[in-house]
Amino acid sequence: MSHPDLFGDAPADDAAEAQKNVSTEAALQTPAQQAARLRALLHHHAHCYYTLDAPEIPDAEYDRLFRELQALESAHPELLTPDSPTRRVGGRVLDSFPTVTHRVPMLSIRTETDNEATGAEAFDARIRKELGLLETDPPVVYVAELKFDGLAMSLRYENGVLVQAATRGDGETGEEVTGNIRTIGQIPLRLPQDAPAVLEVRGEVYMRRYDFEALNARQRDRIAAGIKGEKTFVNPRNAAAGAVRQLDSSIAAERPLSFFAYGLGDMTPAADGGPQWTSHYEMLQQLKAWGFPVAEQTSCVNGAAGLVAFHQRMAAERDALPYDIDGVVYKVNALALQARLGFVTREPRWAVAHKYPAQEEMTTVLAIDVQVGRTGKLTPVAKLAPVFVGGVTVTNATLHNELEARRKDVRVGDTVIVRRAGDVIPEVVSVVLERRPADAAQFTMTEHCPVCGSLAEREEGEADHRCTGGLFCSAQRKQAIWHFAHRRAMDIEGLGDKLVDQLVDSGQVKTLADLYHLEQSTLSVMDRMAEKSAVNLLEALEKSKNTTLGRFLFALGIRHVGEATAKELARHFGQLEAIMVASEEALLQVADVGPVVAHSIRSFFDQVHNREVVQALRDAGLSWAEGDALAPTEMPLAGVTVVLTGTLQSMGRDEAKEKLEALGAKVAGSVSKKTHYVVAGAEAGSKLDKARELGVPVLDDEGLAVLLAGLKP
Ligand code: IVH
Repeated sequence: MSHPDLFGDAPADDAAEAQKNVSTEAALQTPAQQAARLRALLHHHAHCYYTLDAPEIPDAEYDRLFRELQALESAHPELLTPDSPTRRVGGRVLDSFPTVTHRVPMLSIRTETDNEATGAEAFDARIRKELGLLETDPPVVYVAELKFDGLAMSLRYENGVLVQAATRGDGETGEEVTGNIRTIGQIPLRLPQDAPAVLEVRGEVYMRRYDFEALNARQRDRIAAGIKGEKTFVNPRNAAAGAVRQLDSSIAAERPLSFFAYGLGDMTPAADGGPQWTSHYEMLQQLKAWGFPVAEQTSCVNGAAGLVAFHQRMAAERDALPYDIDGVVYKVNALALQARLGFVTREPRWAVAHKYPAQEEMTTVLAIDVQVGRTGKLTPVAKLAPVFVGGVTVTNATLHNELEARRKDVRVGDTVIVRRAGDVIPEVVSVVLERRPADAAQFTMTEHCPVCGSLAEREEGEADHRCTGGLFCSAQRKQAIWHFAHRRAMDIEGLGDKLVDQLVDSGQVKTLADLYHLEQSTLSVMDRMAEKSAVNLLEALEKSKNTTLGRFLFALGIRHVGEATAKELARHFGQLEAIMVASEEALLQVADVGPVVAHSIRSFFDQVHNREVVQALRDAGLSWAEGDALAPTEMPLAGVTVVLTGTLQSMGRDEAKEKLEALGAKVAGSVSKKTHYVVAGAEAGSKLDKARELGVPVLDDEGLAVLLAGLKP
């Protein structure tokens, strides 16, 4: 859970008014005014979050406001009102679903505010104190779980049949959403014979990231098709909440949800005594045996050291998980100890949530710059006031293209929600419209390239604007050179970004071939170029001359010709000349080459200056072994597409890729229906997930060895 669950009906205007005053005026207000302001704000945001499924601010911001109010109330207890958001647990119950009274209340969980490892130690210290343990007593055993970022659900089974699914609501009363929950394939509709007569399983309904992306892509299509009332979702949790509370079950069914069990509510043992367990962990194992998904990471650990280790391990694994977590949860394992510890108001003393730094934060847009890519693509990039999100400080977020920038309607001066999860590039998720300055102007794409001033054009049917300057544009030239020098292209070590900038800006390098005519004296005068580095670079340039046709083709930077396509072309044609004169029809014969790619290759070599660049490079001494196209029979894995993911035991991914390709396989970057095998090593993430989803066979190191033997497992 992220917004502590509260609800109230503050008039939205008050909240909007209050929102403008945040922090700047806080200091000028009396504590009573501050408390009123915070309450109005929190009520407003709880309304957006729970009733509208459309939060305006990130959870981290909400949590801060909430804690600010808590602190104020504890310093001034006289300010506490019965309707304060801090006094309530649970969201509001919607009118549209029947209500359910929970026989065993659905509790909340205390959040450890210290996000560092010390937070785990503080929890263990509290537990030991409460239990009156001495330093010499053995460590307390805990169950460490993931804190899933979805919504809490109570599943009621009577005589082994799912009869009711209810949201938490305010903890006492929730919404009955059985129809929608039945659409979740992971939730058993029927339990085995040995299950208790009455059993309430508590857990989290969530949406996996991949499913979320797919849903939003579908939603975008619908919006584009003009279907009224459709919207995209801000994050997976928000999408899950929307799906669960969708009044039309058939729509809910289109929005794939998942479930993890983590606790129990009401229970009446079976007539013959039923199952026995004395610890939380045993109970989870039993739930698993009855068919409920229990996260595989769930572990039994000893004392503070065990908690800290789990916290750190999960922080490292977090990004690779196919779903969002916002922290971990620690629970005292022994049920007898849980009973001794009891509850404080609505929170058990035996459990705590230990959060990770937020993956969504709020910041402001300082400017929207337009950057020029290697092939001239113009990309609007939001320059942000630095914000710490997802573990790094973010100052830029791509807006992709004009359409996308318009769709999100990001404007200079806007307050935006920025998300960074995993190593995914930071993204502006939405704009906080309430905070938009009155004079903020809509973004429009420049008509001219910001670097060389050439006309910017958008081709029919394309989303991107492009600078028409080609290699006249220094931005494109620089990137063409970086690309050429890339490790997987010509592999010119020591030719870094800064040096390329200088070489281009000083006019020393105008074309790719100029690189091979550089002299030590020219290089030595460049910034940060010691004599030794100049010598090394010249050596690297010399060494790069001896290359392969595949690398050379890739290095040319032909639009749509990636590394794999370049290799495929080299293999198919054997000789550069053959590729340079090949018709689009002939190019289409190459595995991996479709009409767009074929057209792009043809137009590249149709341009005189490109043929001149190729000739100049050959004149400079670049060479590769040319030969006939390899016969398909020598390629046992021809036509086989493989995706590599995770850390392999037997070799690095690059090595595996090269070996597979040498046998004719295509190694792709993403999993699709056309993928034949996914080779998954340790800590494989979303690709593995997608493979399972699409039913693509998944191989381990052994399976890889079989493939490399030229066999198909
Ligand atoms: S236990 C008595 N375990 O976090 C404790 N909650 O307030 C009841 N959550 O809304 C909750 N992962 O939806 C528990 N492994 C986990 C959890 C978890 C996520 C959510 C839950 C609830 C909130 C706790």
